[in-house]
Amino acid sequence: FDAVDVIRTKRDGGELSPAQIAWVVDAYTRGAVAEEQMSALAMAVFLRGMGREEIARWTDAMIASGERMDFSSLVGSGARSATADKHSTGGVGDKITLPLAPLVAAHGVAVPQLSGRGLGHTGGTLDKLESIPGWRAALSNEEMLAQLRDVGAVICAAGSGLAPADRKLYALRDVTGTVESIPLIASSIMSKKIAEGTQSLVLDVKVGSGAFMKDLASARELARTMVDLGADAGVRTSALLTDMSTPLGLTVGNAVEVQESVDVLAGGGPADVVELTVALAAEMLEASGITGVDPADALRDGRAMDVWRAMIAAQGGDPDAPLPRARESETVVAGADGVLAELDAYRVGLASWRLGAGRARKEDPVQAGAGVVLHAKPGDRVRAGAPLLTLLTDTPERFARAREALEGAVVVAREHGGRPEPASGGRG
Ligand code: URA
Repeated sequence: FDAVDVIRTKRDGGELSPAQIAWVVDAYTRGAVAEEQMSALAMAVFLRGMGREEIARWTDAMIASGERMDFSSLVGSGARSATADKHSTGGVGDKITLPLAPLVAAHGVAVPQLSGRGLGHTGGTLDKLESIPGWRAALSNEEMLAQLRDVGAVICAAGSGLAPADRKLYALRDVTGTVESIPLIASSIMSKKIAEGTQSLVLDVKVGSGAFMKDLASARELARTMVDLGADAGVRTSALLTDMSTPLGLTVGNAVEVQESVDVLAGGGPADVVELTVALAAEMLEASGITGVDPADALRDGRAMDVWRAMIAAQGGDPDAPLPRARESETVVAGADGVLAELDAYRVGLASWRLGAGRARKEDPVQAGAGVVLHAKPGDRVRAGAPLLTLLTDTPERFARAREALEGAVVVAREHGGRPEPASGGRG
């Protein structure tokens, strides 16, 4: 095969053959297809799309680029009743994995949650957990298996052996404007989840300004594509479409999101975070054959919190250690009385990223304390001068760019039909 022929086939709207796909993914992983060739092919896929069969073959090729994990011994030995995982397509304030994994594990299911770091304006589960003193993301396959057996839940980084083709391709897509493609997102996510070897998978497909899919029709198509890929590979897969037009919960960042997750595990926390955690837990339990329980009970009676504490400690973290706090803060206040009509997820995510919660380059560190705390959610009544958002960072020179990101993000509507008022700033 010749890389240029493969690129031309897709550039001209043709269908790639199974042999072409197997060859190009393997050759790229080995370095025999150059980055510039794969970036041209990714752009051709972005513009021309892929058929269902092509997406399935592309996913298979990405799985075949690395190892497959196997947790069947946990179920076979009776240590755990089933294995279940969830994946979110990425959002703002989306800390759901943190309370969800221990909640599901509290019901006897093993939850092998391989997670990632922040990408652009979306936060990363591992970046959040790393704000807990001592906690480490990297586990060997043996450590992961032992923790699943003894604790039930593990949230860790995918090892370098899992779908290495995706690892390379993802980094390339990130810098070539080819992230928001249904075939590329679906094959990226599902190759990792199928290689991980979970029995069932629940997908949280985000839709709205803070998601990669901005409209319902494309989110639905992404969901259907991933559910089909899972089913073909023998993974029981279902999907929820959930709103990402405004941030989830009241915190966006790293340590602040861990604190909110702990609040949920303690039986409190914001209603939208609790509701989504419980809805996803119910799906995962049902896929594991557990019905007739209300997952919320395990949040109220401390069982999920017990698993959380064991899970954090097993990975070197101190669940009782105070979480880092940002050194500086500034508050955005309402300019007028009214109802908070809009609080845009994308812009809040971008502000949090600029405050230091995310990274500009792959190798940059993130600030544990940086982020945004919300004091009101869309639909809430607010008074002139009342705080709407608190911006947090260790590096105050970042406030100006974060405020720029927030321009137009917050809209307070007068209750009697007046013109909407932008929010105004104040110092905290
Ligand atoms: N998450 C992934 O793992 N891959 C994508 O392409 C998008 C979100």
